[in-house]
Amino acid sequence: MHKTFPINPKSQFSNLSKMAETQFLTTKKRSAAVHDGVDGFDYTTKKSMLFPTTKADQDPAAALAGARHEFGEHGGVNMSIEASATFTVMEPETMRRMFAGELGADRDFFIYSRHFNPTVLNLGRQMAALEGTDAAYCTSSGMAAISSVLMQLVSNGQNVVASRTLYGGTHALLTHFLPRVCNITTTFVDVSDVESVRHAIVEGKTKVLYFESVSNPTLAVADIPELSRVAHAMGVTVVVDNTFAPMVLSPARLGADVVVHSISKFISGGADIIAGAVCGPASLVNSMMDLHQGSLMLLGPTMNAKVAFELSERIPHLSLRMKEHCKRALEFAKRMKKMGLKVIYPGLEEHPQHGLLKSMAHKEYGFGGLLCLDMETEERANRLMDMLQNHSQFGYMAVSLGYYETLMSCSGSSTSSELNSEEKALAGISPGLIRMSIGYIGTLDQKWSQFEKAISRFQDSGLFK
Ligand SMILES: Cc1ncc(COP(=O)(O)O)c(C=O)c1O
Repeated sequence: MHKTFPINPKSQFSNLSKMAETQFLTTKKRSAAVHDGVDGFDYTTKKSMLFPTTKADQDPAAALAGARHEFGEHGGVNMSIEASATFTVMEPETMRRMFAGELGADRDFFIYSRHFNPTVLNLGRQMAALEGTDAAYCTSSGMAAISSVLMQLVSNGQNVVASRTLYGGTHALLTHFLPRVCNITTTFVDVSDVESVRHAIVEGKTKVLYFESVSNPTLAVADIPELSRVAHAMGVTVVVDNTFAPMVLSPARLGADVVVHSISKFISGGADIIAGAVCGPASLVNSMMDLHQGSLMLLGPTMNAKVAFELSERIPHLSLRMKEHCKRALEFAKRMKKMGLKVIYPGLEEHPQHGLLKSMAHKEYGFGGLLCLDMETEERANRLMDMLQNHSQFGYMAVSLGYYETLMSCSGSSTSSELNSEEKALAGISPGLIRMSIGYIGTLDQKWSQFEKAISRFQDSGLFK
């Protein structure tokens, strides 16, 4: 009845938690009868848990180190990639039970990789550990994470209250796409004014409060505990985009319900992958995978297992990368300020939310890897970026962030161009705002001398004020 397949002696490591390594000597392919305990295997001790619980107040690096480690099929220190789109079963009855929801990924029963895939699930476990949530699942892009979680939590005729200052794509999703396609409306507010958030929420109709922990591109820092308190008191779910501040801030540990990420940025670090994640309660993640009602399952923007493997290998050094991004951003911000440039950086004491960020951040990571220079006009911003890239090789003119090279773009005419002039003014986006994602390639002094070289050429052009 319980049929096992020929196994490699080391295959016991396959997909198992360290805890369960010595307990499980069969291959993964089991019959439901096995699962039911007919073979005498104690499933309460194995309990490989879809998502082990992480401590709410934990440092993200510590939480990641405590997350379940997957070994490779042949005992490799790295996990194997489960590259299969579909999974076979021992008995037809098992298939029926999987579709009925009786056997699931929490017990290593997989159906099809648009639903759960073990390798993607492993990255989800890392993301859940990083953000201190019960669960997480990964998506094909940050926008996939944002749109699918909003469509899961908000229905036709209901409302979102959102920050005025959001990534342009998210702003367009809320302003144009969701009202047209789903009749989901959004009230935009200044989230630094908690009273205006409270007034904007319509009890019963508003389902989600949505904001970015550190806003794109203005680097305003949201008061996550206070906003969460206000929203929760009115029955509203708090969704926070933490793309700009992984490791630095943990929104869920500060009271938010759901954290979304564009993994394409710092978490990937390579500017070579588009990916996202939804981190939140297991009930939410499971609902997004529901065969009848799940936005991820039915709209289908799930992640490919090969991509998930690549990303899983990068997460262990995210904390080191973040520390260096943040260290250099702070140092450059101080030096740029000394030069008389108008710098916006939450690590500078004059930043309006410097104290707030200090009170919420995990101490040893700094204040974020992005800074902004307000050059006032688009012409001056473009001129400076031209010097920085083409004269001194300080960085690249490119959108996105979290790369080892410095990336810079004039936000008003690029990643925030979806906002009209009035929306940009309300969001505090100056036409000459250059957003810089500070890289860590080369030495700090080498990069700084490149910056000085570009500035001196810029001064010669007569545009420096
Ligand atoms: C803050 C923020 N959230 C979400 C996104 C969307 O992510 P993706 O490009 O991975 O879809 C971006 C992209 O620029 C972003 O900056």
